Parts: sequence; structure tokens; C-alpha cells
Amino acid sequence: MLNVRHKPVMVEETLEALKVRSGGQYIDCTVGEGGHADALLGTTNHTARLLGIDLDSEALEVANTRLRQYGDRVDLIKGTFAEIESLTLIKGLGLVDGVLFDLGVSSLQLETAKRGFSFSREGPLDMRFNGEQKMSASDVVNRWKEAELASLLKEYGEEPRAKQVARGIVGARPITTTADLAKVAARSAKRSPRRINPATKTFQAIRMAVNGETGNIKMGLEQATRVLAPGGRLVAISYHSLEDRIVKQWFRRESSSCICSTEVPECACNHSATLRLIDRRVKRPTAEEIRENPRSRSARLRVAERLGTRSPDDKGDMKISGVIQR
Ligand SMILES: C[S@@+](CC[C@H](N)C(=O)[O-])C[C@H]1O[C@@H](n2cnc3c(N)ncnc32)[C@H](O)[C@@H]1O
Repeated sequence: MLNVRHKPVMVEETLEALKVRSGGQYIDCTVGEGGHADALLGTTNHTARLLGIDLDSEALEVANTRLRQYGDRVDLIKGTFAEIESLTLIKGLGLVDGVLFDLGVSSLQLETAKRGFSFSREGPLDMRFNGEQKMSASDVVNRWKEAELASLLKEYGEEPRAKQVARGIVGARPITTTADLAKVAARSAKRSPRRINPATKTFQAIRMAVNGETGNIKMGLEQATRVLAPGGRLVAISYHSLEDRIVKQWFRRESSSCICSTEVPECACNHSATLRLIDRRVKRPTAEEIRENPRSRSARLRVAERLGTRSPDDKGDMKISGVIQR
């Protein structure tokens, strides 16, 4: 029996935003356990193709079993979306019709105590998406200087009591488990009026540092824009304001014909827009989805379309080889 933990978010909205069509070629940059990929491949009259990327071997194993039914229309690869361009080259892919980013952490990762992502499950201080990576949460928590921790918590956690939490962490070293880190963070952080666990921001900041998330998202969006065919769609689902800000800024920049500072009297940037915004507002999950899947509550979906024209005989030359390759 396939043990799927993660419930994909805003599936209908995602397929619509990607304008999924029969015969289309897509990249799912965060394929995880394959929820969105399954919906996409299942909906296209058995002709669409998909390259699925993820850093998490456990998630890829689940996706592998789940998506096997689609045979050679799907190819999974372990890697980072910060390298989409080279991954597509390795796979011999041409320009594609849609790229999806479903950012953040999955239920599989959150609910597996030994992965160390959750403040409510006792486990080691790990938090790596990629289990082969060297740096883990323990390195950040136990080795970083107090000032470095404070600026991390402020920048990536938007924690108003960043200095106090950093001081608390340094004073409690060595910290070895998520439960101990959660206690220290909760002692030093401010109670949230919305009754969010006070360790939430600390865990988010440390996870983002361990996985280099902001840099990866920026590189991923930039490269995704380049691998899209004209008319292809770029869809990003984010789960907190920092992620969403990066997406929003990229979309704003790439849909503008000038990116000069407002202080410059005349345009000197030679920038040309590469994207067209499909909807300026973010899409949010319905109340019904939030009821059924509370983890969807913070999701925000943005979509843009690649500008340019496609020649009539360009069918895309994306080749998918083999079933699963890692
Ligand atoms: C919210 S989950 C995606 C769930 C997936 N859409 C599904 O339906 O099962 C986010 C996934 O992104 C992956 N991820 C995070 N950063 C990544 C990166 N730089 N490159 C590739 N995958 C990444 C995580 O390992 C995680 O599996």
C-alpha cells in the first residue's frame, strides 16, 4: 500500500494556472510525493509529459511508485531546482509549457520526527531536504555566533525578539533535539496573539538557512523563466511572506520593461519584460480546502506567462527518457 502523507494544495487552481493541455511538457520543481504531478498527468488524456525534481529521496521514492502508472511520460530526478537549466540539459529537454514550484516543507518531512523539521515532534536537529547535505540544523543551532543567529532569526523568521531568542539558544548549548530547541525558543520569543506556537519563527528561520532556501528560490525562478517556451506558464505556491515576496518581486521585475531605480531620470537598463502577469492578485485556497486541509491555509498562488512568440512548427523537443532516474 502506498503511504502518502502530503495532501497537495490548490490542485484545481494549479492545473488551471498552468493551463495544462494534452501533449504539453511540464516541470514540477518540487515534485515531493507526486500529488500535483499525479493530478497533472492524470488530467491530460494520457499525453502530457513531466520532469519531477526534488531534493528529498524519501519523497521521490513515494512519487516513483505513485507515478509509475504513467510510464515514460514521467521522469524523476534528485536535484535542486536552483539548477533547472542544467537538469533540463542533462535530460535533453527543450523549452517547456509550464513550470511549477510548490515551495516549503511537506507533510512527509514535518511528520517524520527523525527529519527534525517539527517543533511538536521530538527528533534530532536535522531539517535537511537533502539527506546527503553536510550542514544540518544542529550546526546552525550549536555553532553559529549569537549575532549571526540573531540576524538569521530577524531576517528569515521575522522574529521580533530575535536577539533574545539567539541569546537563549547560545546560553542553552549544546542543544540536541527539536523539543529542546522549541522550549528555548518558546521561553525567549514573544507569545503570538494568534496563538501560533512561539517556536514557529525560529524553526522556519533555521530551516531556511540549512537549505539555502531564499537563494535557491531566486535562482530557480530565474532559470524557470529561461526554460519556458513562449506562452508557457510559471506557477509558484508559497507558504509565508518571505517566499511570496521573492516570487512577487521576480514577477514584478520580469513583467516590467524597465527596472531602473525611480531616481534615475532616464531608462538605462535595456531590460525587456519576459513575463506577463496573469492575475495581479494572489490566489488563496477556498474555505472548504482550508477546512479539509488546514496546512493549506497560508498558501498563496501566483502565475505568470512567458512572453514571446512560438513558431507554428515548434512542438517543443522535450524528450523524456526512461522511467525514474536519480
Ligand atoms: C510542499 S512540498 C511539495 C509537495 C508536492 N507538490 C506534492 O504534491 O506532493 C515541497 C517540496 O519541495 C522540495 N524542495 C525544497 N527545496 C527544493 C529545492 N531547492 N530543489 C528541489 N526540491 C526542493 C522539498 O523537499 C519538498 O518535497
